Amino acid sequence: MRYIGNKENLLDKIYQVMQSKKIQGNSFFDFFAGTTSVGRFFKKLNYQIYSSDLMYFSYVLQKAYLTNNQELNFENLLSDINYQSTTLFASPLNIVVEYLNQIEPVEGFIFQNYTPCGTSELEIPRMYYSDENGKIIDAIRQKIESWKTENLINENEYFILLACLIETVPFYANISGVYAAFQKKWDPRAVKKMILRPVEFVVNNKDNFVYNENSTELLNQVEADIFYLDPPYNQRQYAPNYHLLETIAKYDNPIIKGVGGLRNYQNQKSKFCNAKTAIQELNKIAKEGKFKTLILSYNSEGIMEQESIISTLEQYGKVELVEFEYLRFKSNSNGESSTKKFIHEQLYILQKNA
Ligand SMILES: C[S@@+](CC[C@H](N)C(=O)[O-])C[C@H]1O[C@@H](n2cnc3c(N)ncnc32)[C@H](O)[C@@H]1O
Repeated sequence: MRYIGNKENLLDKIYQVMQSKKIQGNSFFDFFAGTTSVGRFFKKLNYQIYSSDLMYFSYVLQKAYLTNNQELNFENLLSDINYQSTTLFASPLNIVVEYLNQIEPVEGFIFQNYTPCGTSELEIPRMYYSDENGKIIDAIRQKIESWKTENLINENEYFILLACLIETVPFYANISGVYAAFQKKWDPRAVKKMILRPVEFVVNNKDNFVYNENSTELLNQVEADIFYLDPPYNQRQYAPNYHLLETIAKYDNPIIKGVGGLRNYQNQKSKFCNAKTAIQELNKIAKEGKFKTLILSYNSEGIMEQESIISTLEQYGKVELVEFEYLRFKSNSNGESSTKKFIHEQLYILQKNA
């Protein structure tokens, strides 16, 4: 998924650094889970995973990819809907996704608040989704919820289906990267009819635990060999930038405001978006966290100063800094052009004193 700070393309490099520094363990706490790309990578390597994020849509992905440890058979649902797939040898998930792709569209919360027809009374009607796709999102989201209420799907099946929706909707969003604003002209991909995509499973034989919390509040509960920290780097809060994914995941009819139709995010503000409170939080994690190795991913443009990070971490053990270059593409505000820029990605490694 396109997400600010997604580490998907850096994981091999991060793992190489871990190997070269002989960092090993059996358990791994992904402190700022986001898209779960880090958790999935280390789950495949057979670590027991803990992960958390302030965003509920991230929790949906964590439940689907990290907690869940089996292919699902959707037994109750498939006998209830009695749907004949058009594909030979389709998996149960693929059959359910195919079924969802042919249900009747519905004019629900997403259509009413984030499409031009649904918001035609506004001075600037919202163009996050086409009218058709807004109704498709509503229909699929409502159907998943009603299946859960009627006990036709279990918890794992519920989160897998929600994850399919959360992974699919960004491909049709009329935005230039984040959801704080919509584009004033239709992007060609946003006017294509939305087709729900199945997600892929990652299975290991461990009990993996996931949370939708301020991770610093979990320091008493979670103990892991490796703590991996990938916090926000600047003042930009994640919640307003991904508000629509949050609303599709929660589907809780929130009060929304402004041209972009943002939901309230008072309880989802990160202390890592302010230089002073970020260092205080880092200190608390390094001091109270139950880990052997802490790895902090940061970059040369971050709001915490290098010297402050090192002096904070050094109080609790041996610290090393590894830097590598990373090519980042940055879109301008209307997504029409992008510039390339080399960023110094930094890994601060703390081996905690015994
Ligand atoms: C840089 S992103 C992480 C990206 C992730 N590593 C990935 O590959 O997708 C930072 C994440 O931290 C979350 N966050 C910020 N402060 C948090 C906190 N105190 N506790 C839990 N999550 C937090 C944000 O919601 C955001 O998803």
